[in-house]
Order: sequence, then C-alpha cells, then structure tokens
Amino acid sequence: MSDLKNQIDKRRTFAIISHPDAGKTTLTEKLLLYGGAINVAGSVKGKKTAKHAVSDWMEIEKQRGISVTSSVLQFNYNGYCINILDTPGHQDFSEDTYRTLMAADSAVMVIDASKGVENQTKKLFKVCVMRHIPIITFINKMDRDAKSPYDLLEDIENVLGINTCPMNWPIASGKDFKGVYDRSKKEILCFTANNGQHEVEKKTVSPDDPNLEEYVGSLHKQELLDDIELLDGAGDEFDLEAVRTGKLTPVFFGSALTNFGVEPFLEEFLKLTTPPLPRETVDGIVKPYDEDFSAFVFKIQANMNKAHRDRIAFMRICSGKFKKDMEVYHVQGEKKIRLSQPQQIMAQEREIIDEAYAGDIIGVFDPGIFSIGDTICMASNKVKFKGIPTFAPEHFSLVRQKDTMKRKQFVKGTTQIAQEGAIQVFRELDAGMEEVIVGVVGVLQFDVFKYRLENEYNVDVVMEGLPYQFIRWIGNKDVDPKKLDLASDTKRICDMRGNNLLLFTSYWSIDWALEHNKGLILEEFGNV
Ligand code: G4P
Repeated sequence: MSDLKNQIDKRRTFAIISHPDAGKTTLTEKLLLYGGAINVAGSVKGKKTAKHAVSDWMEIEKQRGISVTSSVLQFNYNGYCINILDTPGHQDFSEDTYRTLMAADSAVMVIDASKGVENQTKKLFKVCVMRHIPIITFINKMDRDAKSPYDLLEDIENVLGINTCPMNWPIASGKDFKGVYDRSKKEILCFTANNGQHEVEKKTVSPDDPNLEEYVGSLHKQELLDDIELLDGAGDEFDLEAVRTGKLTPVFFGSALTNFGVEPFLEEFLKLTTPPLPRETVDGIVKPYDEDFSAFVFKIQANMNKAHRDRIAFMRICSGKFKKDMEVYHVQGEKKIRLSQPQQIMAQEREIIDEAYAGDIIGVFDPGIFSIGDTICMASNKVKFKGIPTFAPEHFSLVRQKDTMKRKQFVKGTTQIAQEGAIQVFRELDAGMEEVIVGVVGVLQFDVFKYRLENEYNVDVVMEGLPYQFIRWIGNKDVDPKKLDLASDTKRICDMRGNNLLLFTSYWSIDWALEHNKGLILEEFGNV
C-alpha cells in the first residue's frame, strides 16, 4: 500500500459537540490522555479557579466558561491519527458549529445524563443532523444521579429525529452506579473511578456469573437482566450503514470525569467511523486518495495570539498530501500562492508542520485573502468545492463607534470580524460606515463582537437593538429598492457586496411587500 493511502486510512476527523457543562472538555481531555498528548488529567483544564481548557483560549471564553470558537487537536492512538475539532458549546454559535462540521467526517455528541437533551441545545444538535454525518453519542456523568436511560434515548430520538442504538447499558447511576453492560461483548464493565490515570483498571463480569449479585446488588441484577432482555428484543437493530449515513446514533454511557467507559468508547468509535470521506465539488467529487492536494477554508480567526495580531485560516485537507512551502492555487483569488507557516494548532500551542494529509486540519497565516468556503488546490488540477451555506441572521443591532476619531479601527474591526463569518454587516442605503447594522444568528454573538472591538481594535461602540426578525435578499437585479412600495416598518439595506436587502419585523410585512410589488423576488439566503 502506498504511504499516502496508509496515512489517510489511519486518519479520523471528528467534531465534538455538547451543551455547555455536559463534559465535552473533560471527555476531550481523557481522549488526549489515551493518545499520550497530555500526561496528567487536569493539565488541560488547569486549576479549579481558572476554569479553562487548552481549547478555550479566548478571554471571553475563560470569563464565561463557554467555548466560543473552535480549535483543533490532533493525537495518535493505537495506530490511528485522530483530529478532534472542538465546537462552540452554545447554540448562539450554531453557524460556527455547522462550518466546523463541514470539516469533520463524524461527530461525537456529549449529553449530560442528569439533564438529557437540553432545550438550548436542540438547535445545535439539529445542525449536526443537517450535515448527515455519523453522530456517536456519549451520555456522560453516570456517576451522578441520571435520568432513566430509556428516557434519555427517547429524548434524543424525539429531538434529533434519528434512531438510537445503545451500545452499552448503564447499571444504576449516581452513588449506586455499578458499571455498564457491553451489549456486543455481553459482559459487564464494573465501575471504578479512575481520575487522572492513564491506564484504567478494567474489571469485567458476565451477566451469567453466579456471583453477579456481589457486584451489582440483587435489585440491580434483576433490573439489568430485564433490561438486557428488553433491549435485545425490542431495540433498534444495529446497522452500520444507518450509522454512516447519520440515521442511527450509537449510544455509549460513561463518566468522563472518572475516566469510566472512555477507552471502550474510543475503541468502538474508531471502528464505527471511516477514514476521510470524498468531498463534493461543483462538478464532481474529490477522493481523499487523489495524489493532488486540495483543501477548503472552513474557519478564519483573527487575533488568536494578541501579541502577533495575526489572522489564521483553517483548512480541511480533502485530498493528497500537503508539504511545507509547496505552491498551491487559490481558486477564488485566481492566484498561485505559498501557504506560509502551515501549522497544526493545539489551542495555544502551535507547531509548524512539514506535511499533512487528507483529513487533517491546518492553519495558515492569512494576509486577508481568504474567505470561508474558499478552495485551495494544485494549479495543474483545479477543483472548486461546494460553498458553505450562510445562516440568515435573526437578530439585528445598529452599531456606532463612541469616538468618531476611531473610524478606521471601527471599519477594520467590523470588516475583519465579518470576514470571519462571526457577524454579518449591512448598511442603510446611501449610508457610510459610521453606523452599521449588524446581523447575527444568536444574540451572544453581539457580546463577542462588542468585546472583540474593544479588546482587539480598541474601539468602544454603542449598540442599539433593532426590532427586525427577518431578512430577505432582493433577487431582482434591476429593482431600485427606493422605488419599492413597502410597509412603514420595513427597512431597506445593502450588504458589504452591494446587494440590496429588506429587513422585516413580521411575515405580514413580507407578504405586504410581495403583494404591492408584482414580480419582486425575495430570497432567504444570500451569497454573503
Ligand atoms: P463542557 O466542556 O462541556 O462545558 O464541560 P466540562 O468538561 O468543562 O465539564 C463541566 C463540569 O462537569 C466540570 O465540573 C466537570 O468536572 C464536570 N464533569 C465532567 N464530566 C463529568 C462526569 O463524568 N461526572 C461528573 N460527576 N462530573 C463531570 P466543574 O465543577 O464545572 O469544573 P471543575 O471544577 O471540575 O473544573
């Protein structure tokens, strides 16, 4: 087998997604521990007082304890090379999560066993289903009092609209937690808390063991035997094809904090998921094993390192091998370029890399030429990947700088943050950049925007919420928006590319506009 195929076959690239506090960071940390990427559990999370993980590097993330942006971690385990893409743990950043999922081949969904699928997370998880990639569920915190496993599965099925297949089954929870029953191995993995140890002591017992009661107690023994019978009789059949097409999610129960069930989860996960998958281009597909390098940009992040004021474009390699200093072609810029200082980023730790393969994520310095969705390939074999859809903003604010002397910084900050895809920027027709309308998918993005303008660009702004809820791009190129007959609460605006749009407060005013302007085309998604 060629080295290229070998390298690609051992790669697994997945996103990890959860509600804040469900245990995403703790699980990631334990996975890294198995890969030897860190030595001691806790070195990711740091001290109790300063709650932040390796992947939570932004000041605002530390303050709020949420992860706003996503970073990438790579480690080796059992001959596999694993790329974990961390995602924002808040649904206000669903769009960022969606983009990250575009770069992943599968997703791990972490759920807190005491809470189930939380209301605020529904949108985030649905975004995952929209991508049709395999979703593997880890129900965490079984060492705490949990909801009934049946209810938890029902929750997932109802919210996500996909079937579940429990791979193991918990025996009680909280103080009574006895372990999990592995359904394929037909054995019980007894619960032992192992905080921080690399090698976890494994004690297994068969459900037929005459001494089973000793391990699980008489009450739980009967319950377990009943559950096994019920699951084997009535549960969804395991179907790998359904998993790979995102129709069925295998579910694992465990406890990340006590390092229980994490390694069996990782081992099964590697079997359930595939090496990097082919990617669609505008006129075909690109296979990972194709010799020619190709990649697309799924994320742009400025000022990751405040001291350097840099801007990094993250790209997912879709085919071939990347070599440092190789000359590539930037399709959207129609230019040959050299990707400078390619790096793999483990949160704050950056490592310059010499080579990377399909499935890997690399970060390169971006002098301001890249946009989200851009394709990079070989000049001799041009391809163009399908774009990444933009979500229509649902919240709007009028934003103006407090100090008019800081106009330059205001324009720069607003433009750069918009290029990263964190916000969308609009203007009133004929207006300058003194005052802009910022649209976001989730309101927390406003806070991040304001915070970043103040901290990274030194500009204080005043933000005034606007009552609009719906945005529509005007599809007709020959329509003068000023001549449209519109309800009094409809606003005419344009985006940074000069496209005309309308902001509405209700469906009623959208209907009004359509009825009073025959032939008017209003589109929900723009090419932002
Ligand atoms: P997140 O990244 O999804 O936001 O969650 P994170 O891993 O930071 O975990 C949130 C809290 O839940 C942490 O406690 C963590 O220790 C705890 N936790 C994670 N997994 C488990 C588990 O399996 N069992 C139990 N009992 N707790 C778990 P914290 O008090 O907020 O932080 P810290 O004081 O431990 O740093």
